[in-house]
Amino acid sequence: MYRSYLFSPASDTRKMEKGLASGADAVIFDLEDGVAPSQKDAARANLVEFLESIDWSKPHPAVFVRVNGAMTPWFHRDLEAVYHPQVAGYMIPKVESRETLVTAEAALVRAAESEDAAFQLIPFVESAHALWNLPAIVQGQRRVPRVILGGEDFATELGIRAVPGGLSYVVPRGLLALLSRVAGLEPPVDTVYAAFRDEAGLRAELQQAKELGCFGKLAIHPAQIEPINEAFTPSDDDIAWARRVLEAFDASLAAGRGAGKADGAMVEKPIAERARRILALAEAVAQRQARHGPGGAKEGSGT
Ligand code: COA
Ligand code: MG
Repeated sequence: MYRSYLFSPASDTRKMEKGLASGADAVIFDLEDGVAPSQKDAARANLVEFLESIDWSKPHPAVFVRVNGAMTPWFHRDLEAVYHPQVAGYMIPKVESRETLVTAEAALVRAAESEDAAFQLIPFVESAHALWNLPAIVQGQRRVPRVILGGEDFATELGIRAVPGGLSYVVPRGLLALLSRVAGLEPPVDTVYAAFRDEAGLRAELQQAKELGCFGKLAIHPAQIEPINEAFTPSDDDIAWARRVLEAFDASLAAGRGAGKADGAMVEKPIAERARRILALAEAVAQRQARHGPGGAKEGSGT
């Protein structure tokens, strides 16, 4: 359950260090578009050294690594170099086929020297083709729990010029949430919002992503983490609503009725189920904060 994922370029040790202490639920050490082509080899070497230098017994967010895409000359070299047992998962950009995931998994298993190595594989969905074919692409991939919308590449392909909270991403977000469900995956993670000083725009994007069924959002700057975490944390009002709904639902069942009412609206089984999920999410966030401190990762461990 990660609400926020902060990208830190693998070429920039200071940003990776700051990422670890940022309060994000997860950090992504990036070898792909966050690193200039001329710096790919140096960034990879820097990342390998940095992963070795982390004191993993100390509190830290979940650590992910994004490798370069399968169509680049760096894909195999990245996969051969960056396996680390403390890395929660590997993000694969611009995934267009099952083959890419099979290749990535095999390379990482080889690097880990164990079939049982517990890493996840998280594809970025960044094209119309990948979105449309998602269920076939991830079929049988037990290491893929969810995917991420790569909105910038998607918008470039479709010629979209998005405005914050506007209509451009409604179909990609909604379709990705639906097709993730078809594929048996968790809700997808929403794309980056590049204007990192524009908090109102970020909040509009978060609202829409949530409405359409995404969970969690990528961040590119520490200033984005708090609004993102907040958006995916049930508010006090949400929790109070959920409790009223469950109370009303239990009362209606006890009285032999399937449907009851709360706050002037009908309460029935699926609504009660949503209320239960809100309370479960609130509980999961509270537990994370007990481990990590209210700022996120500062006083806990990498979960
Ligand atoms: N991770 C960790 N720390 C970050 C950070 C990030 N992504 N972005 C900024 N910071 C840190 C900076 O190092 C700085 O701290 P310092 O002064 O103590 O060094 C502080 O936050 C404020 O940064 P600021 O000056 O506002 O931003 P910047 O000009 O240094 O960087 C970006 C702006 C966009 C270049 C930077 O945020 C960035 O590199 N983001 C990630 C980009 C990326 O990975 N893109 C590919 C994926 S889409
Ligand atoms: Mg991209």
